[in-house]
Amino acid sequence: MTDSPKPKVLVIDDEAGPRESLRMVLKNQYEVLLADHVDAGLALLKEQEPDMVIMDIRMPGKNGIDGLRELRTIDSRVAVVMLTGFGSLETAQEAIRLGANDYLKKPFDIREIEETVRRGVQHTQLERRKTRALEELHQLNLQLHEQIALKEKWAVVGEASREFAHDLRNPLTIILGYCDLLAEQLRQLHETKANETAGDTLQYMKNIEDNVQRCYQLAEQWQKSDQQARSGYETIALDKLLEETVKSMEPLNLLGQDKVDYTVAAEPVQVQADRLQLLRAIYNVVTNALHALPTSGGKITLSCRAAAKQARIEVVDNGSGIAPAVLDRVFDHSFTTKPPDKGTGLGLYITRKIVEDHGGQVSIQSREGQGTRVTIVLPLAEEGH
Ligand SMILES: Nc1ncnc2c1ncn2[C@@H]1O[C@H](COP(=O)(O)OP(=O)(O)OP(=O)(O)O)[C@@H](O)[C@H]1O
Ligand SMILES: [Mg+2]
Repeated sequence: MTDSPKPKVLVIDDEAGPRESLRMVLKNQYEVLLADHVDAGLALLKEQEPDMVIMDIRMPGKNGIDGLRELRTIDSRVAVVMLTGFGSLETAQEAIRLGANDYLKKPFDIREIEETVRRGVQHTQLERRKTRALEELHQLNLQLHEQIALKEKWAVVGEASREFAHDLRNPLTIILGYCDLLAEQLRQLHETKANETAGDTLQYMKNIEDNVQRCYQLAEQWQKSDQQARSGYETIALDKLLEETVKSMEPLNLLGQDKVDYTVAAEPVQVQADRLQLLRAIYNVVTNALHALPTSGGKITLSCRAAAKQARIEVVDNGSGIAPAVLDRVFDHSFTTKPPDKGTGLGLYITRKIVEDHGGQVSIQSREGQGTRVTIVLPLAEEGH
């Protein structure tokens, strides 16, 4: 019966006598399946998945040894006990070599049969349980690998999003600053009806446009993979880049300080770089300098020059400086001394990543209470670029 909880034992023997006596001995404890030749036995094996097989060695047509070989290609785990007649001990040992688990000599000893079958069934059930457990482990392992891969992917996306949001803040802050300036100018224009500030207003409009453009580019790069993002290398005149940076930040008063004194000391130097990424790096450094300045008398000097086949950019401020105890942590991910609404501690981490991606190095020197110097070194653009 298919719903029988009894373990199944398959007996393959061409002689009715031993088949029947085995059935009689085993039927109380097992479901006994009978076959009178090898092929019928193997068909039952596939259909019923018995917990043990008892097979005669000497049979007409396919004998038990051939049957055993074929059986092992179907089921490598089920316990098989071979039946041997008088004097065929060597064949029985050969069967063991071929993958049988045991043998029983005819005529049968009932105790021996019961014990052998009990062991055989137990062996098969243990083997099957082991296989199932291994399969489950394998599945679990696969699932774990998938989950880890997914988590890692999200961690990368999460990190990229944080950096993206962080750097989008710089141009947006500048846009907001210009919006304030424009609003003020428009108010004055309205009051005086004079047109003297129209030139400035146009320049402010241009700065707003440039920075909105950067937001778009940043968003675009964020969507691309790292590799695609790197394809945007071009020859960049650093002196021009620094002048533009100052020009766009100078008119602003983002932090309520008195007007900041910017100096650009730039020699003509060219590098191969991703313009947007390099701007991200420089803005992060200049923004840090701005944050550190005193409310009045603040000075920021940007310079660049070529030295020893390298381009050297320096941003020097006369701000608060950095305590020696934390100086070697300022490039760490998330290290900040600012309140949460002022800093995330990503600025210098991102800067270093960008500079190193460009084959350069960034370093910082500082004296508490006196000021800070950030140095970015990049490979010079090769001649002809
Ligand atoms: N020019 C500077 N003057 C004084 N301290 C500085 C200067 N540059 C960096 N630091 C110190 O290094 C820390 C880390 O700087 P970083 O740019 O990585 O993060 P942050 O400015 O705190 O936050 P954000 O993520 O907004 O840039 C700052 O919190 C500050 O303590
Ligand atoms: Mg910063």
